[in-house]
Amino acid sequence: MLQQRSLSGLRGSLLVALQAYRATTHVDISSTVAQAKYGKITFQKLTAPDLSILVEWLNRPHVAEWWDACESLEEVREKYLPRMRDESTVVPYLAYLDSTPIGYIQSYVAAATSDGWWPNEHDPEVRGIDQFLADEQHLGQGLGTQMVKDFVQFLFRDPKVTKIQADPALTNARAIRCYEKAGFRRVGPITTPDGPAMLMVIDCVRVPDETYSQGANRP
Ligand SMILES: CC(C)(COP(=O)(O)OP(=O)(O)OC[C@H]1O[C@@H](n2cnc3c(N)ncnc32)[C@H](O)[C@@H]1OP(=O)(O)O)[C@@H](O)C(=O)NCCC(=O)NCCS
Repeated sequence: MLQQRSLSGLRGSLLVALQAYRATTHVDISSTVAQAKYGKITFQKLTAPDLSILVEWLNRPHVAEWWDACESLEEVREKYLPRMRDESTVVPYLAYLDSTPIGYIQSYVAAATSDGWWPNEHDPEVRGIDQFLADEQHLGQGLGTQMVKDFVQFLFRDPKVTKIQADPALTNARAIRCYEKAGFRRVGPITTPDGPAMLMVIDCVRVPDETYSQGANRP
């Protein structure tokens, strides 16, 4: 009996040790996503070395389905390098969960957009956003909603920003639902140069943030 107890005790200790070992050596998608529900996603401005990862992401089918085509590194450089300049009104970011890049997200000044975009928007402090998750296996688990929520807070750290808008395609029900869960409300269907879309907006909700007041990683 005593022997049996010590054997089962030993088995229990081995199991605990094995689980602890796995936890330190194996980070799977589910643990990353679970962490996202509690952790914070951060945003770093896109840099030239990021373009090689971006071109690979843009060619993944779940991204290409909803995002402007950019098949080669040359095309990506042509489109995204100008967005990295200080004067650009479109500001591109990589989103990170801890130190892992999990997606792309950009903000734009709606009133400064040309080529038929937002002709009726005259408030220079309205921002728009677009984004995608890089990994198809991450879709539908709340990570996109978390990314949008955190980015909205990030943009509202700029005290000038009044409102944030999004314009998912009318057929992109997943993106519409994601924005809704992140606090956006539907304004209604619109026609954009990219086709029919749902205009969605969120009004300013300020979160006090010392980091911003200290000048670090400003949007
Ligand atoms: C859009 C995107 C960022 C959303 O992130 P996500 O992590 O997949 O979204 P979430 O899991 O947070 O939320 C998705 C919601 O849509 C729902 N949904 C998924 N597919 C749906 C569909 N076909 N119809 C209706 N709702 C749908 C999900 O059930 C979930 O809602 P619930 O939590 O109430 O059940 C991500 O899917 C993505 O990168 N898609 C590819 C690129 C893209 O579409 N970008 C947006 C351009 S505007």
